[in-house]
Amino acid sequence: MDKLVIEGGVPLHGPIRVSGSKNAALPILLACILPQGQVNLTNVPRLRDIHTTLKLLDILGCETSFDGNNVTSTVCDLKVEAPYDLVKTMRASVLCLGPLLALKGEAKVALPGGCAIGARPVDLHLTAFEQMGATFDLDSGYIHGRCDKLKGAHIHFDFPTVGGTENVLMAASIAEGDSIIENAAREPEVVDLANFLNACGAKITGHGTSLIKVEGVSSLHGCDYKIMPDRIEAGTYMVAAAMTDGDLLIEDCPFLELDSVVYKLEQMGVFMQEEEGGVRVRRKNGNLIGVDITTQPFPGFPTDMQAQLMTLMCLADGAGTIEEKIFENRFMHVQELMRMGADIKLKGRTAMVRGVERLTGAPVMASDLRASASLVVAGLAASGRTDVQRIYHLDRGYEKLEDKLSAVGARIWREKE
Ligand code: UD1
Repeated sequence: MDKLVIEGGVPLHGPIRVSGSKNAALPILLACILPQGQVNLTNVPRLRDIHTTLKLLDILGCETSFDGNNVTSTVCDLKVEAPYDLVKTMRASVLCLGPLLALKGEAKVALPGGCAIGARPVDLHLTAFEQMGATFDLDSGYIHGRCDKLKGAHIHFDFPTVGGTENVLMAASIAEGDSIIENAAREPEVVDLANFLNACGAKITGHGTSLIKVEGVSSLHGCDYKIMPDRIEAGTYMVAAAMTDGDLLIEDCPFLELDSVVYKLEQMGVFMQEEEGGVRVRRKNGNLIGVDITTQPFPGFPTDMQAQLMTLMCLADGAGTIEEKIFENRFMHVQELMRMGADIKLKGRTAMVRGVERLTGAPVMASDLRASASLVVAGLAASGRTDVQRIYHLDRGYEKLEDKLSAVGARIWREKE
C-alpha cells in the first residue's frame, strides 16, 4: 500500500491548476447511459472513482474510452445490474438507478453499505422513484426496481439530497410528462449535470434553485461537454496556501461556487483576489483568526471542506467551533490531528478547536477522502516528517496531488509502506 511522506514547513508558492470536478464527473458519466448518440466529455479528472465508474458503465453495456482527460461514451446493449463489487467501493454507483429505470423499466443495484462517514441511506432516492411509478424489492442485498414507464411527478425532498436530486433529474429527463423537484439540492455539481442533460436535449429549468422543473422528452442525443473545475480541490489549495503562509495562484478556480468558503477564509485572515490567470491566495497580515463554522447544504459551508478548515483553525489565534450538520460521523481526522499536536475537543457533532503555535509531523492514518486531504495540508505546515498512510482515499478524489504540490515547492513524495 502507498503512503505519502511530507517534510513540512515549506511555504507554497506559484501557480497550481485545479482539475475537473469529481462530484460533477461521476453523475455526468452515469448520465451517459441516457443519450442515443456519442458523448464526448473533456476535463474529466483521472481518479480512482472515475475508473470505477467507467468499469460500471462497461458492465452496464456502454463502450467508453479514456484518453488524457477526455472520455467518449456510446451505449451499446444496455444491461440492468450494478454488481456489489463495484457499488461497495463507490457509493455514487447508485446514480445508475434513475437512468436504468427510465430507459429499461428495471434496475438492480447493490445496496450501498455504510461508509466511513456515516450510514448514508438512499431512502429519499427510492421514495422519489416510487412517486414516479417504480416499485422496489430488496433481493439478496440488491435494490431491485421495476416500472412500466416512469412518469413525471411532483417530488418534495425532505432534505436537499445531492445524489437524490441528480438521480431524479436523470430519470425525469426522459420520463413521460413533467416533473417538479422541490427542496432540490442547489450544489454547482447538480447544475453541471443539468447543463449536461440540457446539452443532450433535456428540458430542465430552475437548476441552481431549490425548485427544478423538468419537461420529459422522448429521447436524448449525444453532445460535447466540458466538466466544471473541482471547487473542493480549489478550496483545499486555498487552505494549503494559508496554512503554509505561502502565496498560490489557483488556476481554473471556480471562485463564485466557493463563496461560503471564501467568506470564512477572509474572516480567518486570508487574502484572496481574482487575477488574470486565477485566484491569488495568501495570508492578509501574518496571523490567522479562529471562526465558527456550520456545514450546510449549498450555498452554505460545504461538509467536504470541513476537515481542511478545521486543520487551518488548528494554527489560528484563539478558538473556533465547527458544527457538522450533514454527516453524523465525519470527525475521524480529529484524532489524527491531535497526534500532530492540535488542541480539539469533540462534543457530539461539534468540534471546538483552539489554535496552537505549531503542528508537529507524525505518522497518521487517512480515513476518508477529505480527512486525508486535511492531513496532507497539516503535514505541509507541520515541522518535521508526516507519513500519511492509506492514501487510496486521496487517489479517489485528488488528481496528481503530490505532483501539483511538489511543483509549488512542497517536499512531498509517495512511498510503499
Ligand atoms: C454528495 C457528494 C459528497 C458530499 C455530499 C454533501 C458526490 C459523489 N458526493 O454525496 O462528496 O459530501 O453530497 O454535499 O457527489 N441522505 C438520506 N437519505 C437519502 C440520501 C441522503 O438520509 O436518500 C442523507 C445522507 O445520509 C447524508 C445527507 O443526507 O447524511 C447528505 O446526503 P447527500 O446530499 O445525498 O450526499 P451524497 O449525494 O451522498
